[in-house]
Amino acid sequence: MKTRSIIIFPALVSSVTTLALLQASSPQRKHVIKKQAFGTVSEGRVDLYTMRNSRGMEVRAMNYGGIIVSLRVPDRKGVPADVVLGFDTLDGYLNNKPYFGAIIGRYGNRIANGKFTLNGLECHLARNNGANSLHGGLRGFDKVFWHGEQAENNQGIGTVFTCEEGYPGNLKAKVTYTLTDQNELQIEYEATTDKATPVNLTNHSYFNLAGEGNGDILKHELMLNADRFTLVGSTLIPTGELRSVAGTPFDFTKPTAIGARVDANNEQLAIAHGYDHNFVLTRKGSGLELAGRVHEPQSGRVLELYTTEPGVQFYTGNFLDGTITGKHGHVYNKHAALCLETQHFPDSPNHSNFPSTILKPGQTYHSRTVYKFFTE
Ligand code: GLA
Repeated sequence: MKTRSIIIFPALVSSVTTLALLQASSPQRKHVIKKQAFGTVSEGRVDLYTMRNSRGMEVRAMNYGGIIVSLRVPDRKGVPADVVLGFDTLDGYLNNKPYFGAIIGRYGNRIANGKFTLNGLECHLARNNGANSLHGGLRGFDKVFWHGEQAENNQGIGTVFTCEEGYPGNLKAKVTYTLTDQNELQIEYEATTDKATPVNLTNHSYFNLAGEGNGDILKHELMLNADRFTLVGSTLIPTGELRSVAGTPFDFTKPTAIGARVDANNEQLAIAHGYDHNFVLTRKGSGLELAGRVHEPQSGRVLELYTTEPGVQFYTGNFLDGTITGKHGHVYNKHAALCLETQHFPDSPNHSNFPSTILKPGQTYHSRTVYKFFTE
């Protein structure tokens, strides 16, 4: 199948990453990826790329933070709505505290006390979340400026993401967004390194399947294909225990409204002020497998999540507190959206019983996640 792509080059000498935006196209139907200016930052012009398919789905992403700016999906009557939180203008994203829509790296989620030991070397990371390091540190992949170019095929370019925030080695990273005619947004992550380093890449989109700004997600029904979750301590760092979900508010093995138990008397929910936990996916192998499903009863929209990752961070927007005004003047309150961040487990470099996140020279990091939309 022929594809058109956008290849994004790095603009900063010290931060170089590739973002490819791909759209599957058939010989009969030529898809055009539209590129338009979204503003400027000190590094240069920020571009917004729009991909549309034949089924009425549209994705807009930009070369600042690789951020997914909007995701328009039809409801059961065919009426589209933007199902991700965000801002109308670039300015909002320059102070994107909740990480709306961004690529997260070099390490998604927390590393305890911002440190780990690798090959006998103690690495110190930026501590940007109390004593812990969160989502890559002070300047993670979400704040990197990317520089783009349109290409006709799926060929990436070699790039370098140099040692930043205390992580060892130079990382070459590439992220590809593909919109298919089956209403799927596929995200593919690849990376190589010249020194052993932890790598854990994800995307931080905030979904509300009723449309962003249209109330909270407490009536959304969620299924997670997970029998266990990583228990956390008071600063949301895993204790190391993989706790069974059976008989707890963390059991989403059968579709359940998110609001049914979010306020239950439960120590783990109290620590996080809602759900903000890594679920251990029940996997058959290492390929793309169904991780979860979200259904919004009123619009009929369904989001199915597939991933190659062993975990997913289910976060119910607990830190949204009405202080952020997003798209169309919408005020984002607590639980205005949910995140399903496919990932390896938080703080893995400090837990030898967790699947390893260490990428070594000569190896290629490869991770895939698919968000599939339909109605029922
Ligand atoms: C992840 C974390 C949360 C929070 C959000 C961003 O989901 O687990 O605790 O930091 O990102 O606000």
